Amino acid sequence: AAVETAPAIVVGSGYGGAVAALRLGQAGITTLVLEMGRLWNTPGSDGKIFCNTANPDQRSMWFKTRTEAPLASFLWLDVVNKDITPYPGVLDRVHYDNMSVYVGRGVGGGSLVNGGMAVTPRQSYFTEQFPTVDATAMYNTYFPRARTMLGVNTVDPTWFESTEWYQFTRTSRKAATNTGLTTTFVPNVYDFGYMQQEAAGTVTKSALAQEVIYGNNYGKKSLDKTYLASALGTGKVTIHTMEKVKAVTRASDGSYLLTVDRIDNTGAVVETKQYSCTYLFLGGGSLGTTELLVRARDTGTLPALDATVGAGWGPNGNTMVGRANHIWDTTGANQATMPVMGIDDWSNTDNPVFAEIAPLPIGFETWVSLYLAITKNPQRASFTYDSASGTVKLGWTAAQSAVSVAMAKKLFDRINSANATIYRSDLFGTPSKLFADDFCYHPLGGCVLGKATDNYGRVKGYSKLYITDGSLVPGNIGVNPFVTITALAERTMERVLAEDT
Ligand code: FDA
Repeated sequence: AAVETAPAIVVGSGYGGAVAALRLGQAGITTLVLEMGRLWNTPGSDGKIFCNTANPDQRSMWFKTRTEAPLASFLWLDVVNKDITPYPGVLDRVHYDNMSVYVGRGVGGGSLVNGGMAVTPRQSYFTEQFPTVDATAMYNTYFPRARTMLGVNTVDPTWFESTEWYQFTRTSRKAATNTGLTTTFVPNVYDFGYMQQEAAGTVTKSALAQEVIYGNNYGKKSLDKTYLASALGTGKVTIHTMEKVKAVTRASDGSYLLTVDRIDNTGAVVETKQYSCTYLFLGGGSLGTTELLVRARDTGTLPALDATVGAGWGPNGNTMVGRANHIWDTTGANQATMPVMGIDDWSNTDNPVFAEIAPLPIGFETWVSLYLAITKNPQRASFTYDSASGTVKLGWTAAQSAVSVAMAKKLFDRINSANATIYRSDLFGTPSKLFADDFCYHPLGGCVLGKATDNYGRVKGYSKLYITDGSLVPGNIGVNPFVTITALAERTMERVLAEDT
């Protein structure tokens, strides 16, 4: 088959890929983006592009026969998940030993399915994790640029205090305050002006209609509405969807050669394509990028890749937990799907935890306070290539998850003790499993900045090969990660376009 050639190719259209595509396009460089998921712009028979969490259909998940929602059960009953037809749906759950990882699939990557929380890490911890990065430039230039481009906004505090949709958050805040803990509002990319109109009944509901992990039909400024729309607007950027990059090698003239499977809606490979480019930007996310490079190094297609490719992975200390409130502390039948507050105990050097107050939007009173705790778990794992099966494996262990659980437990034991409350034991499948420690939303690392790459994401061992995504972040950043990923990508693109092109 003929080789299609582009000056620059970007793999993936999540945060890292979207920033690369826009900045390349603005620099006048013709750029092709290859994305394995769909373009989510066509309504189904119900008139909606995405389905909600209450009635998931084939659009919900990436080639599964049954949905795999994070909360597997309620009152120990398997009432949450539904049988579906395999289809290139928007949310994937990738299974490794002891850890499964949720990721978005489609034009916009994780921005299509995430909770929109747009949090800038505290500077002291950013510096601890990225000692070689100029923090002043990050906090003066790249973080503000990322927040502006992403459309970050905050909930109106007056409306927050009065609306039924955030009663669940106020109840969790009260329990934290009773414990002497600090809570903090967190910004979001969901348009809170739109949300207030939803509450007023003047627009079609999305965050107030149980839409989030399988996509939001309205209100959310996902990347297809921000960076990627601007990238396409340069006239220099093209996106090919349903095309999965499976191998990368380098030709003798220094250009990169990509082998790509184009799939159809059943997942069948309908064409295997060859692409070539001068500049290659990897934005497949922590899993996608690391898998490509570990495979390339260990099968010998890019043999000069550094030994640290594959290392330094962590789940951002993610642990989910639910508390049972007293009967008088209701959390509300109506809950907005976008979190707006966290318990910030990161400065507690004994046990640093940032816990997002998460919704349980199932339409009736549950008395559950749910949290996604981000713990300062120092454990890291590596991806390795298994030549027998031809797959890439992740070496995360249950003992490593237990470190996150112990930290979350320390915090929530304090909250339960101060409020005379208990854990909910019916939410995570197995009876009496109190902490969800076997899945994460925040995969980070695998190609850590300054180790697998130089200080700007240039891959060691090869020129004109770059990483711009979450694989650069060393396993933990202490808050929800997409603002950090976006800001680092902005920093890389500014440097690369000034020096390498
Ligand atoms: P990202 O995963 O976004 O994009 C990678 C893209 O590349 C995907 O579209 C993928 O399909 C594609 N791809 C991968 N391999 C490929 C290949 N070989 N060929 C072609 N395409 C390929 N974060 C946050 O800050 N606030 C929050 O509120 C949340 N909430 C949240 C909820 C849920 C349910 C999830 C799953 C995640 C979050 N996150 C979050 C995490 C956040 O979404 C995540 O950190 C970023 O999306 C990561 O950005 P990247 O650019 O690294 O990859």
